[in-house]
Amino acid sequence: MTQPWWKQATIYQVYPKSFLDTDGDGIGDLPGITEKLDYLKKLGIEVIWLTPVYQSPQKDNGYDISDYYSIEPEYGSMKDLEQLFTEAHKRHLKIVMDMVVNHTSTAHHWFQESRKNRNNPFRDYYIWKDPKPDGGPPNNWQSKFGGSAWAWDETTGQYYLHLYDPTQADLNWENPQLRQTIYRMMNFWIDKGADGFRMDVINVISKNQRFPDDADAPPDARGKKFYTDGPRVHEFLQEMNRNVFSRRIEMMTVGEMSSTSINNCIRYTKPDRHELSMVFNFHHLKVDYPGGKKWTVARPDFLKLKQILSDWQTRMHAGGGWNALFWCNHDQPRIVSRFGDDGPYREVSAKMLATTLHMMQGTPYIYQGEEIGMTNPKYQSLSDYRDVESLNAYRMLKKKGLSETGILDILAHKSRDNGRSPMQWNNRKNAGFTSGTPWIPICPNYPEINVEAALANRQSIFYHYQKLVALRRKYPIIVEGAYELLLPNDPAIFAYLRHGEAEELLVVSNFFKAPVTFALPDSVPANRYDSHILISNYSDSPTDFRKIQLRPYESIVYHLTRKPSRSQLHQ
Ligand code: GLC
Repeated sequence: MTQPWWKQATIYQVYPKSFLDTDGDGIGDLPGITEKLDYLKKLGIEVIWLTPVYQSPQKDNGYDISDYYSIEPEYGSMKDLEQLFTEAHKRHLKIVMDMVVNHTSTAHHWFQESRKNRNNPFRDYYIWKDPKPDGGPPNNWQSKFGGSAWAWDETTGQYYLHLYDPTQADLNWENPQLRQTIYRMMNFWIDKGADGFRMDVINVISKNQRFPDDADAPPDARGKKFYTDGPRVHEFLQEMNRNVFSRRIEMMTVGEMSSTSINNCIRYTKPDRHELSMVFNFHHLKVDYPGGKKWTVARPDFLKLKQILSDWQTRMHAGGGWNALFWCNHDQPRIVSRFGDDGPYREVSAKMLATTLHMMQGTPYIYQGEEIGMTNPKYQSLSDYRDVESLNAYRMLKKKGLSETGILDILAHKSRDNGRSPMQWNNRKNAGFTSGTPWIPICPNYPEINVEAALANRQSIFYHYQKLVALRRKYPIIVEGAYELLLPNDPAIFAYLRHGEAEELLVVSNFFKAPVTFALPDSVPANRYDSHILISNYSDSPTDFRKIQLRPYESIVYHLTRKPSRSQLHQ
């Protein structure tokens, strides 16, 4: 059977607010994306995932939608979006729209109606509950942005549920009319030319209808087990698939899965279940959350990172599911600052991280700026931050008695704004991002780290990514091969094999600065293979793969092809 096209494609995520501003208001816009399509084409990606550009009060940068059918004026107009579609399609680039359907902004007219009175036709589009006898919230569920997940509404004397900000009210997916309304809206975007959807926090749409108190979870996680991969989520996704996705055979969908499980992700993505094409999960990005705590500075647990990524590789493969591969997005700090080295080894460590991920099975995502090794901006002051989650965390940590410098240090490592500093295009004013005042400060290292410099240097991180993207298209083993982790307990080396029929890929990466020796385990019959290097981050990596002296962050991929047997030679 031929593979769906998205199994060998690489996807590029654009966060419009920080990509390129063409009208000088300090905020990136749609014409800015259109202007850079040739740049993206040069990288070799085939799909652009556009984070939300719908009308929104921007309390959570567009993940709080107030009208699904119109474009947020700060990003441009519907005409600008149509232009982007047309220009992208001309270049054989596809566009995936971000769909936020777990919640809407409270400014959405559905919510405005809903809150008017208990008999309003839109009342049941949201989740309204009576207070507890003491007047408190209906249960102890926590918002993912801190505090109770319930907000009191005076007019009708009930609480509404918000798993995120109080201005992001959760929709009631139990209501069939609401579901049909959502499907119609999604079809509108298909008709406009969308080639797929990224489904925001889609595994939390189905809530346990008893809405019980969560007695035994730690305070921050209260309620999670009653809505994560909830009771009817697979049924709803199958219904969405029948009503929307199956209208176009080539459609690609990716679900963002909060705190999910491998078994559920197999169900979400196994083709015969007709739910989604692939899923994001975040377990591998919590290896620097000691005891599950995000708001603290900690070194990543490397053995855990290997184990988690490898579990997802082997079990999704065995179960017939499909992973989305990623290190970065708009909710994550920059990977080179996090698991690599953003000082003297920035270039090699960024390439090493890219190689280690892109040789795995799944569909890789590159987040804007990752392809030039952008770093965390290391903001020094609270006034540099914009993100609602980070500002809530600041208040929460302050309440706990942490010092100002301690909190700023935590934010400089963990805030989502680390991934949101503007794209660094060149070494001129504001990194070429805007002629006005950027909505969030530019990272000060832009004079050295920028697209123009990367394009001018054949050894740059950009060209390394370009090569990884091309390799995936050329070598089916990268798409199909089974995965096997080598040296699971090695504290510095991430090594794995991908198995093909008469070939193997051997991927060996040193995740640290200190040199280290890799010795191929005896289980791999090295002398049966001819080998050549597919990609490496040093120009003179050794060709003998049995024993390798790995330099700081060195990463090498060997393509091993079985030598012809004696009988074959004599034929
Ligand atoms: C997703 C988005 C994030 C947003 C949240 C609520 O996790 O990626 O940016 O805050 O959903 O919509």
